[in-house]
Amino acid sequence: MAGIVVAAVLLFYVLSVWAFISRSPVRLPPAGSRWPILNRLESLTKGKAILYRVYQKQLSDNKPYLLRGIFGDSIVLPPSMLEWLVSQPESHLSAKSAQMDALNIPLTFLRAEIGLNPVHEPLIRRNLTAHLDQITSHIWDEVGLVLEELWGQDTEVWREVNLDYTIRHVVARASNRVFVGGELCRNNDYIESSLRYVSRVSACGLLLNFFPSWLRHYLGVLFQIPIRVAYSQCSKHLLPIFSELTGSEAASCTHLFSSWLVNNSKKYPLSSLERTPDYLSRRIMALNFASIHTTTLTTCNLLLDIFSDRTTASLLRDESLVSSASWNTTWNRGRLNQMLRLDSALRESLRLWGLVAKAMSRKVMQPAGIILPSGQRLLQGTTVCVSGWGLHHDENVHQQPFEFIHDRFMRRSTHGASPSQEETEMGTSAGHAAAETDVNFAAWGIGKHACPGRFFAVDLIKIILIHVLVDYEVELLGERPENMWIEYNVIPPPATTVSIRRRKLSV
Ligand code: HEM
Repeated sequence: MAGIVVAAVLLFYVLSVWAFISRSPVRLPPAGSRWPILNRLESLTKGKAILYRVYQKQLSDNKPYLLRGIFGDSIVLPPSMLEWLVSQPESHLSAKSAQMDALNIPLTFLRAEIGLNPVHEPLIRRNLTAHLDQITSHIWDEVGLVLEELWGQDTEVWREVNLDYTIRHVVARASNRVFVGGELCRNNDYIESSLRYVSRVSACGLLLNFFPSWLRHYLGVLFQIPIRVAYSQCSKHLLPIFSELTGSEAASCTHLFSSWLVNNSKKYPLSSLERTPDYLSRRIMALNFASIHTTTLTTCNLLLDIFSDRTTASLLRDESLVSSASWNTTWNRGRLNQMLRLDSALRESLRLWGLVAKAMSRKVMQPAGIILPSGQRLLQGTTVCVSGWGLHHDENVHQQPFEFIHDRFMRRSTHGASPSQEETEMGTSAGHAAAETDVNFAAWGIGKHACPGRFFAVDLIKIILIHVLVDYEVELLGERPENMWIEYNVIPPPATTVSIRRRKLSV
């Protein structure tokens, strides 16, 4: 008890110092309570309500509001400024700087350049997306293997599995099949160390936000210790691969992303750190960081949405069976792209639970600040965003915005009838693919910085879902478990379990 009181007093003290130090430079109405400390504490428990309310207000007044949060403040812009926001150059409103700040990446990635100069990102855009067709069958095999290990092959006995834990391992293994190849992705020590690295970077990055920026630099050294330990456990496995690949003339394709990284590094001078096995290994960990957490949470959300509704689960299983009957053992993008029902369900789940409820974070870069379309000047260093939660639950755009309607985005272009006028007006027939971005859908971000890994993520999630729907019986959940809010972030409850049993092979 005494410990809790001391912790509460300490937290209150830190928040008070921080509230004083980080007072907002502009006078804007607050999105929640007008008392800064109360407002910040409120963000812990009422993030969802604050984001929804502010969006509703903005639909009529078009004003920016000050959004205070336990992990930092930002200015939430009205949806009418979204297109303006997307059109701003990186030199004025920077996505990269906002990403770096949100999780203190220059500190938590241990080498600031890995985050500040993300040379691995064009390779996601160029190589990964271009190779998806060839990669599909490898991912299919890997997901099947790891699910068999974690969910078992017993067709008689039901077993209870933790969704977050098992899906996190499936995602880590399947992603690393593409990042580092079939051998290393099956190395348990490497996968466990990678998962530890990813969770420590996120946790330490968030916790550092509790401290004023001048103090973070010093405290960072302490916070880096657990991350360093996890990285050294990963690098034990990665360094030999890169030593071998950098030593050979043409990097072998069996390691896919690692070989693209090595080939790409050859454009740097011989003395460049970018050519060293250490930097190349750190880039693989940056990929793991970008992909594992996001893809795991999105897959868990989709599974919970689907298995909370008998009709949806059965329609999606039927679609998978029809696809299996016509494509048999052929795995390519054409096959995945034909699964319109699953594609729509994924987009719908992302709309309902998009991980970035506070979307499109951008930092003001110019020393003179930036002038908003409404005339207010924001100072250099201010972060702006939009209410992604409000945008995705806007009833002017989506009918029954809080319901999971799995076929809401189903494209009808190939076989079905054209959408009615009412459907078109309500955006219910919109025919948007899961990986598409548009002004009403911010789950991947919008514009130049929209997630470059989304095509890979969509294919991986679909493959996991097809395996589950075809190979396993999943006991329906009585009702959809409530998601959790941590400040302005929404996640599926990590302790959720589902009851599953391997299906008998039909003869
Ligand atoms: C379902 C899974 C995923 C979700 C929901 C997701 C979501 C996002 C979002 C919201 C952004 C920020 C966009 C912005 O600020 O405008 C982003 C950026 C990014 N994502 Fe993803 N992501 C996912 C998977 C992945 C994967 C698998 C990779 C890598 C293979 C990846 C790599 C990146 C990178 C490198 C950026 C920074 C892009 C830039 O700043 O230009 N993501 N992602």
